[in-house]
Parts: sequence; C-alpha cells; structure tokens
Amino acid sequence: MAVTQNRGELRGTKCAWPQCGQAGPSEEEDYSSTLKLHPTATAQGLHHLHAGQNHHSPKAARTIQMTAYEKLSTDLKRRPKTWLVTGAAGFIGSNIIETLLKLGQRVVGLDNFATGKKKNLDEVKKRVEASRWKNFSFIEGDIGDWDTCRRACRSADYVSHQAALGSVPRSIEEPLGANASNVTGFLNMLAAARDNQAKRFVYASSSAIYGDHPGMPKVEDVLGAPLSPYAVTKYVNELYADVFARCYGTQTIGLRYFNVFGPRQDPDGPYAAVIPKWIAAMMKNDPVHINGDGKTSRDFCYVDNAVQMNLLAATTTNPKAVNQVYNVALNERTSLNELFAMLRERLLPHCPHLMDFKPCYRDFRAGDVRHSQADISKARRLVGYAPTHRVEQGLDAALDWYRKNLL
Ligand SMILES: NC(=O)c1ccc[n+]([C@@H]2O[C@H](COP(=O)([O-])OP(=O)(O)OC[C@H]3O[C@@H](n4cnc5c(N)ncnc54)[C@H](O)[C@@H]3O)[C@@H](O)[C@H]2O)c1
Repeated sequence: MAVTQNRGELRGTKCAWPQCGQAGPSEEEDYSSTLKLHPTATAQGLHHLHAGQNHHSPKAARTIQMTAYEKLSTDLKRRPKTWLVTGAAGFIGSNIIETLLKLGQRVVGLDNFATGKKKNLDEVKKRVEASRWKNFSFIEGDIGDWDTCRRACRSADYVSHQAALGSVPRSIEEPLGANASNVTGFLNMLAAARDNQAKRFVYASSSAIYGDHPGMPKVEDVLGAPLSPYAVTKYVNELYADVFARCYGTQTIGLRYFNVFGPRQDPDGPYAAVIPKWIAAMMKNDPVHINGDGKTSRDFCYVDNAVQMNLLAATTTNPKAVNQVYNVALNERTSLNELFAMLRERLLPHCPHLMDFKPCYRDFRAGDVRHSQADISKARRLVGYAPTHRVEQGLDAALDWYRKNLL
C-alpha cells in the first residue's frame, strides 16, 4: 500500500558496499553505526542482508562494520552487568528485561503493578532460557517509597527507569497521581541511583514535552509550552536530571519516546494506546474510532528500537553523549488512516469479517497535536542509534503476539 511518510532521516547516503548504491550512513556521524536502516532491510538488519547478497564477496562482507548496538551486545555478553529496570511489569520495561536477560545480564525489576501486569513477566520467563531467568529478581514496590528505591539500586551498574503513570488524558484526570509517580518517584530513583553510584541513569521522557511547538520534525532543544500535567512531569524529570549532573556529577540520559508499540502493550482501558486498541477492536469486530479526519499523524516506533536506545544510552562511552536527551522514533510520519489500512491488511487473512470493515470517524480530541515526527539525527550521531524496524516491519514482527493475545 502507499504510505506517505517522510523518510528524510533514512535516506540520501550511500551503502558501505561500493557497487550497491543503496542508502547507507552519512559522513556527518561521529559515532559508529556504519550500517543504517536500509530501504530493503529486513528486521535482522542491513548487516545480514548485505552479507548474504550474491554481489558481496566474503571479503567485502567481512569489512562491513558492526553497528554500535551489535558491538555493545557482544561486549555485554562477554562482561555481564547488573541492571535495575523500573516499570518492569509494564510494556517497555518488560521488553528491555527480555533483551537484557537474553544477553546474559543480571536484572533486578521493580514495579508496583499500577498499570503493569504479572503476566508480562511470566511471558518474559517463557521467552528466555531457564538459566537466563535465574539472573532475574523482582521487587514489588512503589518508587514513591525511598527505602524501596535504595534497596532496588543497591547493586545496579545501570538504571533504566521506565516506571511512571503514562497517558496524557489520565494525567488530566489525576494530576496528583501523575506527580506522585512521575516526579516524586522519579526524584527518589534518581537520588537512589546517585547514592549507590550507579554508572548511569537512563530514564523515559516523552515527546509530550514538545507541547504546543509547531516545528517539525521535533529537535531536542526546541520546546513549546506543555499541554498536560503528564508533559510537565516529564519536563521536570529532564530538569532534575540536568541539575543532578551539575550538582553531583550523576550521569543521566533522557529518552523522549514517540508512540512506542509492540508486544505486551496493554489494549484495555480508557488510556490504551491506539495500535493495540484498534487491533483488539478489529479482531472482535468492534468499532474502530478515528478522532478527526484520519490525517493526524504520528512517528510510531517499534519497541525493539526503544530497547536498543536504552542499552546504547546506558553503555555509551562517548563523553559528548552523556547528560543529554534524545528523541526515540524513526523520523517517519504515519497518518491514522494509513495505520488503519496497515492493520486491516495484516489482519484480513485471519479475520475475513474485515473485508468491508471501515473506521468510524468522530470529532477531533481536544489537546491532540495534529502531527508528530522526530528528528533522530542526534541519537544517530552521538550514540549510534540505528533503528531496525520501520512501522510495517514492527507490525509484522508483533502480529503473532497481537493475534494470540488481543482476542
Ligand atoms: N509507550 C509509549 O508510547 C510511551 C511514550 C512516551 C513515554 N513513555 C514512557 O515510557 C515509560 C514506560 O511506558 P509503558 O508504555 O511501558 O507504560 P506501562 O504502563 O506499560 O509501564 C509503566 C510501568 O510502571 C509501573 N509503575 C507506575 N507507577 C509506579 C510506581 N509508583 N512505582 C512502581 N512502578 C510503577 C506500572 O505498574 C507499569 O508496569 C513510562 O515512563 C512512560 O511515561 C511511553
């Protein structure tokens, strides 16, 4: 299907293989990542794609450099570290934990099950080998509790702080709850990481920070006024992280996620994200509502890309990369109408009732920004971020999970 996406960040440079002439890295990058998302790349990435092509001699294949992420994965396997992941039972947290355990890391998870689910951790357990699962320990507790935060941080080399109450509408309904988890809880975690001398504190920020600024694509240092209590909480996180770097020398990196999707994202409840909510509705033959005309667009980001960025941020040795914030997305825009068509196309072979299925259009939702798209050049340049999944590849990768879990 035709998809109107701005692929500016992903195009325009040449592949490392001289006779190939397809897109590859730009020369401006000062950090790693010779291999970038390729127009024809599979989810396994360009490295495998090119190494397997006929016109590539074995010698040429050997000269292809590793991405920063491939290199760090190799390093971590050789020298395992201890990680604390907060929000462990949630969507992104449980995906980070699965990857870390598969890489042989020791992981402590912390969660109070406010929105996370035990079944997410059960699923991680099923997906990693038993010997890897033994490296995982879990603390059920609230980041509002200082002693819990200190205990959780005790042996952590790296902290990946994901715990927060997400959702803009929820924060408008319950600003005090958002503040308690997202500001007080955040400050507890940051101070506990400092006191335990964690090497780095990586935390989830949000594209909500861009607020009412009309600029597109979003660049990290151009912000508008926040439009919700949730956006305020994430902005305060960034201010505290910056101040901790100045006052105490704490190393932090903030990740502004843009509409992350993938396995274990909750389809239920009034604050559910659009992709799992629509898939569940389509499979059940329930109505799918589009707010507005469907031309509203977002930079949807498959969860593996967000996981990659967490690991890169925690371990980067580039001094310029530390105490910074980064957009985490694709630099692509997909409209809601396009998203609906992509989902329908994938589900149709399994759900014949979708043959004539149409969305129901209703009024625009107050406070929703019209378009959102990230500039990801800073992440690419400073930490070697190289997203492996475009939107359609992410949907393909998650399709089985959606079909098994969302009906
Ligand atoms: N999913 C996205 O598209 C997106 C976009 C921007 C930012 N974020 C941020 O990424 C992080 C992870 O989001 P997610 O989509 O995985 O959400 P999620 O709700 O699935 O995960 C958040 C986890 O934090 C836990 N938690 C909440 N408050 C807690 C507390 N006080 N103490 C301990 N645990 C607590 C919840 O139980 C849940 O397991 C959040 O900080 C969120 O604000 C997500």
